[in-house]
Amino acid sequence: RRIVVLNGPNLNLLGTREPDVYGTDTLADVEAWCAQRAAAHGLEVSCRQSNHEGALVDALQEAGADPEVVGVVLNAAAYTHTSVALLDAVKATGVRVVEVHLSNPHAREPFRHTSYISPVAEAVIAGAGVRGYGYAVDHLASTDG
Ligand code: DQA
Repeated sequence: RRIVVLNGPNLNLLGTREPDVYGTDTLADVEAWCAQRAAAHGLEVSCRQSNHEGALVDALQEAGADPEVVGVVLNAAAYTHTSVALLDAVKATGVRVVEVHLSNPHAREPFRHTSYISPVAEAVIAGAGVRGYGYAVDHLASTDG
């Protein structure tokens, strides 16, 4: 069984993108950390990143249709604050989602205080940096089945 790790726009630039906000770990580091945490639970990961909202919708639909998928660790990045389409994809598929943010959006600009994902997320982890992804994997793995 496996966990899908889905990262949204601009997260391909992790490591060099506003390091004071997002840290210096790269997306590859994030994905390696998720794989390590998943392996500790006997699970695999499949990791995807896209800057395109529709590709993220596709990935959620695919995850929801795959019985081997335990759930999705989702950092929808800026689409968190705008995307009814991602909200609807989670609702439509019933896929388990843990919402993750590297930073704590609630401590930032007001436009980051709204999340379209939170109402359908099983758990929300924000402000814990890269470790937050590991906590999300731990949550999904330890509540599987
Ligand atoms: C983010 C927070 C969002 O507000 C922002 O648009 C991102 C990254 C985070 O991980 O802290 O791109 O999701």
